[in-house]
Amino acid sequence: MKHLLKMMDLSGEEIIELLNLADQLKYEQKHGIKHHHLAGKTLGMIFQKSSTRTRVSFETGMYQLGGSALFLSSRDLQIGRGEPVEDTARVLSRYLDGIMIRTFAQQEVVDLATYGSIPIINGLTDYAHPCQVLADLMTVREYKGKLEGLKMCYIGDGNNMANSLIVGGIKTGMRVAAATPQIHRPAEDVVAFAQQSGDFLLTEDVMEAAAGADVIFTDVWASMGQEQEAEERRRIFGGVYQVNDKLLGVANADAMVQHCLPAHRGEEITAEVFEAHANEIFDEAENRLHAQKAVMVKLMG
Ligand code: CP
Ligand code: NVA
Repeated sequence: MKHLLKMMDLSGEEIIELLNLADQLKYEQKHGIKHHHLAGKTLGMIFQKSSTRTRVSFETGMYQLGGSALFLSSRDLQIGRGEPVEDTARVLSRYLDGIMIRTFAQQEVVDLATYGSIPIINGLTDYAHPCQVLADLMTVREYKGKLEGLKMCYIGDGNNMANSLIVGGIKTGMRVAAATPQIHRPAEDVVAFAQQSGDFLLTEDVMEAAAGADVIFTDVWASMGQEQEAEERRRIFGGVYQVNDKLLGVANADAMVQHCLPAHRGEEITAEVFEAHANEIFDEAENRLHAQKAVMVKLMG
């Protein structure tokens, strides 16, 4: 494992290994046990989109591991004025020990990995959000004690979260069902992978997807970069692709609800369901810190 570009690149065993390390780092942090695995190392964090969780958890995580992190807004970098990614990758590889990047095109993350000589971590692209999904799997395992055999349900847009959850779920032996509108399905390669590798259902019927689910995920209807489509998307998703009490009524009685955040109450999730599952959702947000520390130790240690 040299980079974390997308869930597809990890084997099921590698995912479990990362989750085990994340659990251990979480335990150590909670018990005041220092773990300076990355003393003297520096992570560069390139952001072309906004962030609360990713920025703060990576920066804090790096500090807890004894290293330091640099926030690099693309607005201030020469990359924002057209300096090629291949040059940026080769320059930054001379200063840093790893790069976390949040951007639009997955290809940009691939190019950084291709031209640079240090580990690259995908902190969200239009295609994938692997750091989030490692935290999500960690949280489900904490609550349920296992992943294999559980039913994961995803409701909403076939976006970066859907793509990464489907692959992560299938690779860890979960049964996965996703309900998305026909015109907003997950990426084709993800659907093809899931259909041939595991127990996977893709439907437009939210009730069918949620039936017997152990954990229900959802995400925003309009992702970052799709702001101008928000109104149109509200018409397509509205009233149907929502995690609400009726939907939970067909899931298992002890089903968890997860949301990567930020959440839009009244759109993809009701305020009632959000608050009833707030502990699980904020544990999920916390686990970004622990899961990403595991990724950094594995790649940069
Ligand atoms: N879930 C997530 O990635 O949050 P941020 O956009 O705040 O980083
Ligand atoms: N799908 C969302 C996730 C945000 C963490 C987006 O890309 O904006």
